[in-house]
Amino acid sequence: MPFKGRVALVTGAQRGIGKAVAEAFAREDAHVILNDVCQEEDLVKTATALSTYAGQCVAMRADVSRSDQVRAMVSQVEKRFQRLDILVNNAGIIRRGSIETVTEAQWDQVIDINLKGTFNCCKAAADIMIKQRSGKIVNVSSIAGKTGDITSAPGYGPSKAAIDGLTKTLARQLAAYGINVNGVAPHAIETDMSAEWSEEKRKAIIESIPLKRLGQPQEVADAVLFLASDKAGFITGEILDVNGGFLMD
Ligand SMILES: NC(=O)c1ccc[n+]([C@@H]2O[C@H](COP(=O)([O-])OP(=O)(O)OC[C@H]3O[C@@H](n4cnc5c(N)ncnc54)[C@H](O)[C@@H]3O)[C@@H](O)[C@H]2O)c1
Repeated sequence: MPFKGRVALVTGAQRGIGKAVAEAFAREDAHVILNDVCQEEDLVKTATALSTYAGQCVAMRADVSRSDQVRAMVSQVEKRFQRLDILVNNAGIIRRGSIETVTEAQWDQVIDINLKGTFNCCKAAADIMIKQRSGKIVNVSSIAGKTGDITSAPGYGPSKAAIDGLTKTLARQLAAYGINVNGVAPHAIETDMSAEWSEEKRKAIIESIPLKRLGQPQEVADAVLFLASDKAGFITGEILDVNGGFLMD
């Protein structure tokens, strides 16, 4: 098993794509730290449910937009495992709206969680990964960072485009330390985030996708695990589309 004994921190792991990523690492016998901002007892339940595998699965509640909480979480990881092999920055929020309806507070919240949250976790993890001279960082971006998005409030697409820029910048800066930094750009994945679509919108989205279906969280997890594996050793600064062929760039 390529991930046996590796230490993986997954943010936003209570549900959706993050949970699928955490489960996939657990099935591979990695040690998994599940982070989320949800109720601590719910996160503990999710981590406990994954503890049937050989690795340790632990819950660490923190708001990724808060650098103090992220630093405390990552130093807890280091204290417990003495290393951090993989960071998956998955935590993210979307707000619906337009330039006419969006408020400054909404803009700040989306940028703080999606972009600054990713930066906070990369910065804290990089300290450990630089010391150990190895590491894999995978950032969960979105197709909206490449194409823009008509239904989300204006902060979402820019936050994801900036995550792609951060991914490439860190890929260059951390390459000398044996650290790979990549991203995935999903589109139309069946999670609570997409459950809010109307039936009409859902049908239109499926119609626009060459594979004629929505994606599953597990399919994003498969892409994340590939980028976090040694098989992707010569790949860095890449943003991998997981979109059923909707955008081929
Ligand atoms: N579902 C899709 O179609 C889709 C498409 C493209 C990109 N994405 C991206 O994939 C990621 C996961 O999406 P999802 O559909 O699973 O979403 P989701 O809303 O189902 O899950 C997101 C998780 O992140 C957690 N979270 C939110 N704010 C947080 C914070 N400040 N600190 C820690 N955790 C926090 C939430 O509590 C939740 O458990 C997001 O970054 C999203 O932008 C999703």
